[in-house]
Amino acid sequence: MNYRVAVIGAGAIAQSHLNALQQLESTTPVAIADIQEDRARTLAQAYSGVQAYTDYRRMLQVERPDLAIVTLPHFLHKEAALACAEAGCHLLLEKPMALNAEECDEIMQAVRRAGIRILVGHTQRYIPHNLEAKRWIKEGTLGQLLMINDARHIDYFHDSRPAWFFEKRLSGGGILANLGSHSVDKAVWLSGSRVLRVKALVSHAGSKGDVEGGGAVFLHHENGIATTIVQSGYKGAARNETELLFSGGKLCLKTGVSLQASLGKDYEPVETPQAESPFVLQLLDLIRHIETGSETACTLEDSRHIVAVIDAIYRSHASGREEGVQLT
Ligand SMILES: NC(=O)c1ccc[n+]([C@@H]2O[C@H](COP(=O)([O-])OP(=O)(O)OC[C@H]3O[C@@H](n4cnc5c(N)ncnc54)[C@H](O)[C@@H]3O)[C@@H](O)[C@H]2O)c1
Repeated sequence: MNYRVAVIGAGAIAQSHLNALQQLESTTPVAIADIQEDRARTLAQAYSGVQAYTDYRRMLQVERPDLAIVTLPHFLHKEAALACAEAGCHLLLEKPMALNAEECDEIMQAVRRAGIRILVGHTQRYIPHNLEAKRWIKEGTLGQLLMINDARHIDYFHDSRPAWFFEKRLSGGGILANLGSHSVDKAVWLSGSRVLRVKALVSHAGSKGDVEGGGAVFLHHENGIATTIVQSGYKGAARNETELLFSGGKLCLKTGVSLQASLGKDYEPVETPQAESPFVLQLLDLIRHIETGSETACTLEDSRHIVAVIDAIYRSHASGREEGVQLT
């Protein structure tokens, strides 16, 4: 089957999805919608046969796509997912799934009712170095995985970041909701275990809006693994590293850059097989799910769980105590 695909939102990440759609023989991008008409038009013109719309509901009505890709600000994820479910089209929804666990539950109910298939775009699960690290964990090459330390340092408040990212009611939170959803996803996926409890302290020293710009988080996994996540969105040297500590060695994962292993003092590079772009791989995963019912790399329950962990991070900061994660 060839899937006619509509994209909702023509912002920064839309092009990665359109490029992936063009690379696959089984998908054809047919339309793109954005309230900023010039953005929708510019992207539509760059890909042949793509129509531009300013109203995504009208686009769904007119185009009747088989699949929609939602790349909207976080506060619109639920509304758009429900509209796609109502229109009966399958859905690739950008991360994080929604603003909070309650919204995720509403999406899950709507998806079940409509009988559509959905994948939340947790791209970490399709990145070659991450997949190689997952293979080492599964095969027990370095023994038993015991701890994960994830560190992210980035200038989060840079001028080209759209303003909605800095308003909590629109974004759900700052660096920990946005980039933290990748870190929590990695922790849940690599440990192979849900998070039961969370302790967190966040910082609001950012130069814009009301969202946090950094924080330190401790995650207690169901299988006894511990994860720490430390993020700083303030100026300084960039860093994006995940250290995996095993009973017989350690791995250092620099997302998108390298994977290194150590049995003693020094790290050695780990050769990683090349793969398609994560955006192509996630589309293929969703299509397989639609056609065969196979489980996706990140299940809908996992996607909801990641949001519930982020909810618990903010609750723990507010209460000053360890908080439980709202499980389904
Ligand atoms: N998977 C990844 O690695 C990755 C990377 C970047 C962004 N993202 C996610 O993608 C999503 C979008 O992020 P972005 O950086 O592209 O944001 P963006 O602000 O650049 O793009 C969002 C677009 O949505 C449009 N929009 C707003 N309201 C709308 C409405 N009612 N109808 C139609 N269009 C509307 C805006 O005009 C804007 O063009 C977020 O969920 C973000 O977390 C994921």
